[in-house]
Formats: sequence, C-alpha cells, structure tokens
Amino acid sequence: MKQNKWRIISLGIAIFIIGVTFPFWYGKGESPVPPALDLDTPEISLLTEKKCIEDTAFMRTKHMKLLKAWRDEAVREGERLYTAGDGRVFEKSLTGSCLGCHSNKERFCDRCHNYVGVAPTCYDCHIIPGEVKK
Ligand code: HEC
Ligand code: HEC
Ligand code: HEC
Repeated sequence: MKQNKWRIISLGIAIFIIGVTFPFWYGKGESPVPPALDLDTPEISLLTEKKCIEDTAFMRTKHMKLLKAWRDEAVREGERLYTAGDGRVFEKSLTGSCLGCHSNKERFCDRCHNYVGVAPTCYDCHIIPGEVKK
C-alpha cells in the first residue's frame, strides 16, 4: 500500500508541474505574429539611412540599456557624444538621435512596445517630435 501512496503522490506532482509550466509551453510554435515595424519616416527616410546606431540584433535586445547608459552619462557626467562600433558619432539623445531617425514613434517604438506590453515613461518629460503636449 505504501507503493500506491507514492504513485498517487508522483501523479500529483506531475499534474502540478504540467499546470504550473502550462503558460510557458502552450501555444509554442504558433505564437502570434509580431507587429510589422514601419521604418519609413516623413522627415528622414530610414530607407536611405540604412543603419541603426549599432546592429539590429544589438538594438533589438539592448536599446533600453543603451538609452539608460546614455541618460546617466549625459546627465551625470556631461558626456554627450557616443561613438558607435563603426565610428559614427551620435548625440546621446532620446529625442535628438533615436526619434530623429525613428520619427514615426507610434508606428515603430509604440507598435513593438504595445506588442510586448512595455510602456516606457520617458515621454512624461521627453518631447516627441511633432507632437504638442496637452
Ligand atoms: C522626470 C522627468 C524625466 C523622465 C521620466 C525621463 N527623463 Fe530623461 N532627462 C530628463 C532631464 C531633465 C534630462 C536633462 C536634459 C539635458 O540635460 O539635456 C534628461 C536627459 C536624458 C538623456 C540625455 C539628453 C537627451 O537629450 O536625451 C537621455 C538619453 C535620457 N534622459 C533618457 C531617458 C529615458 C530612456 C527615459 C525613460 C526610461 C527618461 N529619460 C525618462 C528628465 C526625464
Ligand atoms: C541614423 C538613424 C538612426 C538612429 C539615430 C537610430 N536608429 Fe534605430 N534603426 C535605424 C534603421 C535604419 C533601422 C533598421 C535597420 C537596422 O536594423 O539597422 C533601425 C533599427 C532599430 C531597431 C530594430 C528594429 C527591428 O527590426 O527589430 C530598434 C529597436 C531601434 N532601431 C531603436 C533605436 C533606438 C532606441 C535609438 C536611439 C538610442 C535608435 N534606434 C537610433 C536608424 C536609426
Ligand atoms: C522590436 C521591438 C522594439 C522596438 C522597435 C522598440 N523597443 Fe523599446 N523595448 C522593447 C522591449 C522588449 C522592451 C522591454 C525590455 C525589458 O523589459 O527589459 C523595451 C524597453 C524600452 C525602454 C525601457 C523602458 C523601461 O521603463 O525600462 C525604453 C526607454 C525603450 N524601450 C525605448 C525605445 C525607443 C525610443 C524606441 C524607438 C526608437 C524603441 N524602444 C523601439 C522592444 C522594442
């Protein structure tokens, strides 16, 4: 009878594990299609400026860290210029650099952020080009 008890316990544990990990494996392989990012902008066509500050994979995964490092360096250390991996120099500025090229914030930054469910609070203070704050 002791053996039976263990069988029931293992079954219980197995069901628990399946239940707890369900959200992580369910729907894998048929995940929703990520949003199309619009790279064309009215002012500067990103189709002519072909490269971001760093390569796409880096930007996709590290832009938040880059921006926060920029903020700290610019504001605390007065270090306002960033030299990219390929030697191009950019101003460490959210509005001036990022949104200078990605001026279609809504169809670029926001579209992806909405999809992944992040809402950066930067724009409480930082200006979005072309948008008058109410
Ligand atoms: C409470 C207001 C406030 C919020 C919220 C805020 N900032 Fe700032 N930020 C400032 C101020 C003030 C400066 C200083 C402006 C200067 O010295 O040019 C600054 C400067 C910066 C700079 C360097 C200068 C420039 O023109 O961009 C960066 C980069 C920056 N912030 C990024 C961010 C990011 C990224 C976020 C969101 C995660 C953010 N900030 C949220 C107020 C804010
Ligand atoms: C000189 C113009 C320019 C500047 C400045 C710029 N970008 Fe980009 N960015 C591009 C272009 C062009 C692409 C698409 C090609 C590529 O990935 O290099 C891109 C791609 C990206 C991507 C990847 C999009 C994808 O396909 O997943 C992210 C994220 C991004 N940029 C964020 C930023 C942020 C944040 C800043 C400011 C720190 C910034 N960019 C500054 C031109 C720029
Ligand atoms: C391809 C998708 C994608 C694009 C395009 C994109 N982001 Fe993000 N962004 C993310 C993800 C994912 C996170 C959250 C990462 C995390 O939680 O660690 C994020 C986080 C951030 C954060 C940090 C927010 C916080 O409060 O910690 C900032 C700032 C930011 N993005 C700025 C931008 C700007 C500016 C642009 C447009 C120039 C942009 N992003 C375009 C995917 C994207």
